[in-house]
Amino acid sequence: MIDENFSLVLIKWYNLNKRNLPWRNTIDPYKIWISEIILQQTRVEQGLPYYNKFILNFPNVLMLSQAKEERVLKLWQGLGYYSRARNLHFTSKYITEKLKGEFPKNYTDLIKLRGIGKYTASAISSFAYNEKKAVLDGNVFRVLSRYFGIYDAIDSTLGLKIFEEISFKNLPNKNINTYNQSIMEFGALQCKPVSPNCKKCPLSFKCWAFLNKKISSLPVKKKKIIKKERFLNFLILASDKFIYIEKRIKKDIWKNLYQFPLFEDSNLNFTPPEELIKKSVLLKKTEIKHILTHQKLNVVFWHYNLNKLEKNKKYKIIEIKKIEEYPVPKIIENYIAENLRIHLI
Ligand code: ADE
Repeated sequence: MIDENFSLVLIKWYNLNKRNLPWRNTIDPYKIWISEIILQQTRVEQGLPYYNKFILNFPNVLMLSQAKEERVLKLWQGLGYYSRARNLHFTSKYITEKLKGEFPKNYTDLIKLRGIGKYTASAISSFAYNEKKAVLDGNVFRVLSRYFGIYDAIDSTLGLKIFEEISFKNLPNKNINTYNQSIMEFGALQCKPVSPNCKKCPLSFKCWAFLNKKISSLPVKKKKIIKKERFLNFLILASDKFIYIEKRIKKDIWKNLYQFPLFEDSNLNFTPPEELIKKSVLLKKTEIKHILTHQKLNVVFWHYNLNKLEKNKKYKIIEIKKIEEYPVPKIIENYIAENLRIHLI
């Protein structure tokens, strides 16, 4: 399945419709890397302010490598999938220390780096160096499956092989960078998952799914994610000025971020341990549900006011007004904003 016109039409569409995004005005592999990692699992509108903030703080790989991990996580706060930030930081140190600060210049060397898989290596090598590699992300799967009528599942080994072949065969001979941006942008703006604008589509006259009325059944995905349910109880144990926090160190969601003392249970029947709350009165109990890609979290915040915080081996005592210096998960950030704000001014 090769269509000589496919790439030409997409590039033409792109030149007329593209958004002006900062990572498109650079061939600096470092900036492209940062943008592509941020944009994995994140929409452009949400990722853009994070990208700008990140580049302002760490304009190059050396600056990132010299930062403390905590600062990197703080800048990432709210984006989720924090291993992306930890891997970025790890790899920046690797490039600085082991590769003499020289960013790898081709796909084969890029894919060896931690946190860089096929997609990111293709994106960086094609955008920065015009290497002949096809990017395959959710947007591209959608465009290819619909246009060429491919029913193989995008998350199956065989399906992936078929998509890799078709995307490679349809690469133009030059302007690989522009073409790769074009097909992703086309998927994001035109060939959308739901109600794509087929009436005004330059490819519809040859699009298999449009001609066969199968737009809504493509692409095909085989695995349904089963979400694990978890029950998290956070204890807010605060005096007028101080509060307990702890660092998450286990291999789990939010690794290396901070939180209020956590008690995880297998159901909703939790009661806070007496030795911690010491007959103090429960000020407030807040229940929320929080959905992640692979988990459904039932979160309860138990808010107690204590006269004095005693030293405790497990928890760190900090001034409440300093809490915003620590990287925390989004649910904790929200709780602080809604309930501890008076301490922060
Ligand atoms: N999503 C992933 N990479 C992107 C890029 N370079 N531009 C816009 N959206 C993207």
